[in-house]
Amino acid sequence: MTPTSEATGTEIHKGLDGVVVDSTAVSKVNPETNSLLYRGYPVQQLAAKCSFEEVAYLLWHGELPTTEQLAGFEKAERDGRGLERAVKATIDLLPITTHPMDVCRTAASVLGATHPQAEENSREANLKKSIDLLAAMPAVVAYDQRRRRGEEEVPARDDLGYSANFLYMTFGQEAAPEVVEAFNVSMILYAEHSFNASTFTARVITSTLADLHSAVTGAIGALKGALHGGANEAVMHTFEQITRDAKGADPAESAKSWLDAALAAKKKIMGFGHRVYKNGDSRVPTMKASLDKMVEHYNRPDLGHLYDALESAMGEAKNIKPNLDYPTGPLYHLMGFDTQMFTPLFVASRITGWTAHIMEQLEANSLIRPLSVYNGAPERDVP
Ligand code: COA
Repeated sequence: MTPTSEATGTEIHKGLDGVVVDSTAVSKVNPETNSLLYRGYPVQQLAAKCSFEEVAYLLWHGELPTTEQLAGFEKAERDGRGLERAVKATIDLLPITTHPMDVCRTAASVLGATHPQAEENSREANLKKSIDLLAAMPAVVAYDQRRRRGEEEVPARDDLGYSANFLYMTFGQEAAPEVVEAFNVSMILYAEHSFNASTFTARVITSTLADLHSAVTGAIGALKGALHGGANEAVMHTFEQITRDAKGADPAESAKSWLDAALAAKKKIMGFGHRVYKNGDSRVPTMKASLDKMVEHYNRPDLGHLYDALESAMGEAKNIKPNLDYPTGPLYHLMGFDTQMFTPLFVASRITGWTAHIMEQLEANSLIRPLSVYNGAPERDVP
């Protein structure tokens, strides 16, 4: 039920729950049919048949690229790879205690401050800024993880696709094709999800006619929170906590009792639930299939068992289903990413959706400025 202000009788849509604020042609989330379409294409089909680069092109241009268009797009992405001097120098100033999401947010801001078209808001300039950001962010994430481990920067390779190069720059060696494939699927599934909190943040900032990098920087801030993108990191902390509490016994056996205690303490279980999907997240089955392959590839059946045990305990206790952050947490862990790097991986992907929305917002802009009901002190005179 929508709460009503006691003073004025005005309906208050807390959290904008159920409020339709605009239309979009970028993606369609349909909780009834449990489907997610990017520009009309089911995301499952895109994950099975496309590269992340093709999906980025689709989100920005509205159509999948022809062979020629894809070649041009891939070249632009490869040309933009690597760590810019100003970005590297700024990251080097940040202590390794800085959360990697803060590093990402700072890097996006520096990339904006140094971009030659920083103040241009034409579609052409914004397409260029978007691809430059897409190309630059893997180097930021990879370098950040490496410096935390005391490792040297690994330069980008332009003979590898986006996902293969991302993994190469992070780990300093080529990943197995099945690992690249699973990573590619995760990038595609994370790319876009209509008016979620970070995308809406990007649209709000864009609606003031601020530049694209400002909007992306704000979106990264919104994504950091545990109720949004930060959940994939939090899922891994949950797995680690259950494993610690099991004290050497099989953690899958302890999942139910851990969950019961957490729910009794009124804790939110990260990686479960969704504002829009109430019957399961449309992206989870595809991501789970990739996770299963990685569990086999890395020979970690224990992680698969813990995943299943917590999911079924949550189903029994609350009938709440996992969201995309539930399978991606353990997936990125298996690939070797540090837990704090998981949400920056989400950033690297979601740059595509955010910027597609930024460009769409500018096509028919209206300043986003909601109202509120005042419930503070009544008017009074300053003594
Ligand atoms: N753990 C425990 N209980 C949960 C829950 C979770 N992850 N998600 C929802 N619930 C419960 C709430 O406690 C509430 O119960 P109540 O009616 O008894 O109070 C009910 O389900 C409705 O939850 P609510 O928080 O109102 O739903 P919402 O639409 O506002 O929230 C989320 C959606 C995503 C914020 C919420 O599910 C959540 O916090 N999930 C964990 C964080 C997460 O994984 N985020 C990534 C989202 S993609």
